Amino acid sequence: MKQLVFLLISFIFAQDDLVYVQAVWRHGARNYYHCNWNCIKDQPRGDEAILTPTGMRQQYILGKWIRQRYIIEYQFLSSKFNENEIYIESSDENRTLTSAYCNLQGMYPEGPSIPHFKKENESLLLPPNQGAQIPRDIGDDALPHKIQLIPIHTQQKALHYPIVIQCPKMNADNKNTQLYKEVNIATAQLYHDFNTELNLQGDEKVNDIIELSHWRDTFICNRYNGDPLPPNLKPKTLQQLDDLANLAQSLEKFQTPNQVKIQSTPYFQRLIENFDSALAEGQNVKYFGSSAHDTTLGCLLSALNLTSAQCQADIYLNQTYIDFAANLIFELYNNINTGPFVKVLYNGEYVPICSDFAKTCEYTRFRSIISAQLVNYSKECIESNQEINFTYYQTPKWAYLGFGIVILLLILVFRAILKLRQTLVQREKE
Ligand SMILES: *[C@@H]1O[C@H](CO)[C@@H](O)[C@H](O)[C@H]1NC(C)=O
Ligand SMILES: *[C@@H]1O[C@H](CO)[C@@H](O)[C@H](O)[C@H]1NC(C)=O
Ligand SMILES: *[C@@H]1O[C@H](CO)[C@@H](O)[C@H](O)[C@H]1NC(C)=O
Ligand SMILES: *[C@@H]1O[C@H](CO)[C@@H](O)[C@H](O)[C@H]1NC(C)=O
Ligand SMILES: *[C@@H]1O[C@H](CO)[C@@H](O)[C@H](O)[C@H]1NC(C)=O
Ligand SMILES: *[C@@H]1O[C@H](CO)[C@@H](O)[C@H](O)[C@H]1NC(C)=O
Repeated sequence: MKQLVFLLISFIFAQDDLVYVQAVWRHGARNYYHCNWNCIKDQPRGDEAILTPTGMRQQYILGKWIRQRYIIEYQFLSSKFNENEIYIESSDENRTLTSAYCNLQGMYPEGPSIPHFKKENESLLLPPNQGAQIPRDIGDDALPHKIQLIPIHTQQKALHYPIVIQCPKMNADNKNTQLYKEVNIATAQLYHDFNTELNLQGDEKVNDIIELSHWRDTFICNRYNGDPLPPNLKPKTLQQLDDLANLAQSLEKFQTPNQVKIQSTPYFQRLIENFDSALAEGQNVKYFGSSAHDTTLGCLLSALNLTSAQCQADIYLNQTYIDFAANLIFELYNNINTGPFVKVLYNGEYVPICSDFAKTCEYTRFRSIISAQLVNYSKECIESNQEINFTYYQTPKWAYLGFGIVILLLILVFRAILKLRQTLVQREKE
């Protein structure tokens, strides 16, 4: 009887323990990417799509939000940065790398202090360079303002399949589909208004949804960065451009269920691996963050059936755009009685997974649904993909040849000198 009561009580009060969190976010606001308005073509501009101050602020605040949830409320992560607990990766782009640093400033604002050294030991704090000095006002903070720096891992672009959507052979025909044509026909009036408002003539005229979305990209960047917009562009037209942005991206990059499946495979494969090993208690990492792109999130949202090119087209003009700093978080919980389960947040709100309404999904079910969608990514994208070049340095053949010739010449010269010396010595003797 006692045991039964205990079981009942433990069932009622059983805790949902958070076990593992995997987050992926889009970088914050950046500079424009396509030179289509108010910029000079063919002029080198350095890093075009760099993270702007607005984007830094967005990421910093997202990091604070993550801190509030997982460090303060759930007490899931240590309040001071613990490098065994978290792993952060970024695609190899300046804007995503910088975003990750800004995000982590929000998550771990406070860094460490140095040991309190007195006068005679202060030199331990200096590099061995002559004239090196301790800055005034730094006190015992390791770094100015006591900031914390956190390692961000990255890989060369071609290898970052989980967070960089780049399977070019997948979408070669996407502009020739029926859906693409239908959407373009339905957008005729918008093209007309847009071309008129921007006074575009002849070849400049826009009549393609993907190209239109490139213009929209410039305007959204300008809006976020406090730069001007075309004076005659009507707010209604701009709103229509916003509404089309998601659809254009889906049509271009992951239009069909097969394209979604293939391109979301590397991310989900790793998610399942991480969740599995978290449940097997084989690892210390509890928080895995990825600094990525709008296409990454778009593809994953499609793979979770939260959106799709078809459904975006169906409710044409009724979509929300994947904003700067948009984020998707996968939470793995365990419950002693009911077992592990998963919850997914999009921009901080739980979204339905596994079915149209449920906000939680048993992990076994989540695992089997996602696993059923996984394909052989290498086979589909890598083997026949000429674009992926490994950049290991190889000594070119001419270098070996040149080296050989030089050695040969040296030997010949050396022998000539020897011979000359022998002759001279012999002459002296004579
Ligand atoms: C990153 O920024 C540097 C300059 O800060 C620039 O030279 C480089 O091209 C940028 N990299 C990319 C991938 O844009
Ligand atoms: C300086 O360092 C030495 C060796 O670590 C230690 O014995 C000594 O107490 C230190 N002096 C001060 C003033 O911290
Ligand atoms: C998405 O929908 C397809 C087709 O109905 C289904 O096969 C798949 O399991 C669903 N995926 C998820 C993650 O719900
Ligand atoms: C459009 O979106 C709004 C809000 O997200 C929703 O209330 C409305 O039902 C949607 N309309 C259609 C046609 O899907
Ligand atoms: C995936 O495809 C590649 C290339 O076709 C093959 O070498 C590999 O064995 C496949 N992997 C699996 C798990 O089937
Ligand atoms: C990769 O290498 C191939 C052949 O060596 C070349 O044609 C192609 O342009 C390269 N791609 C990139 C992205 O460098």
